[in-house]
Amino acid sequence: MRYEIDLRSDTLTEPTDEMRRAMASANVGDDVFGEDPTVNRLQEMAAAKLGKQAALLMTSGTQANLAAILTHCGRGDEVILDANAHTYCYEAAGPSVLGGVSMRPIEGRDGFLTPEQAKAAIRPDNDHFPRSRLLEIENTHNRGGGSVLSIERTSALCAAAHENGLSVHLDGARIFNAAVALGVDARALARDVDSVSFCLSKGLSAPVGSLLCGNADFIKQARRWRKALGGGLRQAGVIAAAGIVAIGTMIERLAEDHENARFLAAELSAIPGISLKANPPPTNMVYIKLAEGRTDSAAVVARLSENGVGALTTAPDTIRFVCHRHIRREHVGRAAKAVRTAIG
Ligand SMILES: Cc1ncc(COP(=O)(O)O)c(C=O)c1O
Repeated sequence: MRYEIDLRSDTLTEPTDEMRRAMASANVGDDVFGEDPTVNRLQEMAAAKLGKQAALLMTSGTQANLAAILTHCGRGDEVILDANAHTYCYEAAGPSVLGGVSMRPIEGRDGFLTPEQAKAAIRPDNDHFPRSRLLEIENTHNRGGGSVLSIERTSALCAAAHENGLSVHLDGARIFNAAVALGVDARALARDVDSVSFCLSKGLSAPVGSLLCGNADFIKQARRWRKALGGGLRQAGVIAAAGIVAIGTMIERLAEDHENARFLAAELSAIPGISLKANPPPTNMVYIKLAEGRTDSAAVVARLSENGVGALTTAPDTIRFVCHRHIRREHVGRAAKAVRTAIG
């Protein structure tokens, strides 16, 4: 890790010893032929975990969301999503670049639209407009502050989409953080959506990979898109083996990351000159906002890095801290002290 206390992202987590052993001894085959037993097992586990018929190993969350959107939408179709959605902000406009799919960003609250907002964004059938085809939701919501969407709110959004002929894709990169925070089964959070992606390589600590889950026909079509996107891998069992360990051993421990985030937020809340997006934070992310007239976030982050603390600027006045497996309670206390010094 680049910094002694690296709070930039949970993607920095490194594989556990058990993952490395599993990778070294994985049974493999050619997954483009569908013959890698370890990939097949991971896909079965993932589908069962999310309550869907089938799943597909993808190289990244970005690729999983892109393949999902390309499967749901054709050229001239439109995806309705929150203006801060990862897909809209950070996935290089892949759906537009590669699929001719238009994106309709709507300003939600903490990353979530209301069903009324979603309905209002659906276009009438008219030659002038793109065709509203898909609603995308993100849970937990990264730029929303690691915010969590409940089962009830997910159902209400899905109903708004389905009643109007739209499908729903859930970017569940951190769906297990949401499930652990709510104390519910991830299946319940994915029950009403048509497809869901989740990442192995964030808080779950695997080195690579995401899963896209949906019904059998959807996954069959997504598999073709995965091939077109260059995501058809051969002996991918070496990756899948770490994913199996991730799903089997890393989900419950996310609660520790949430607890550390709460501790960090409590410590930071005592520092003058900053405010917290949410206190307590909903999951493993803590976003702080610098008071007006303070030095900019890049300068604060630079000073933190001189003291061995990694953090990420997400806007000129906003800094993100993410707790993960390599962050322990004592790190959090030290990080908070470094923030106090850096703010000045
Ligand atoms: C909410 C969300 N979705 C998707 C992704 C993309 O995942 P990847 O970095 O594996 O492409 C990320 C990455 O941080 C994310 O936070």
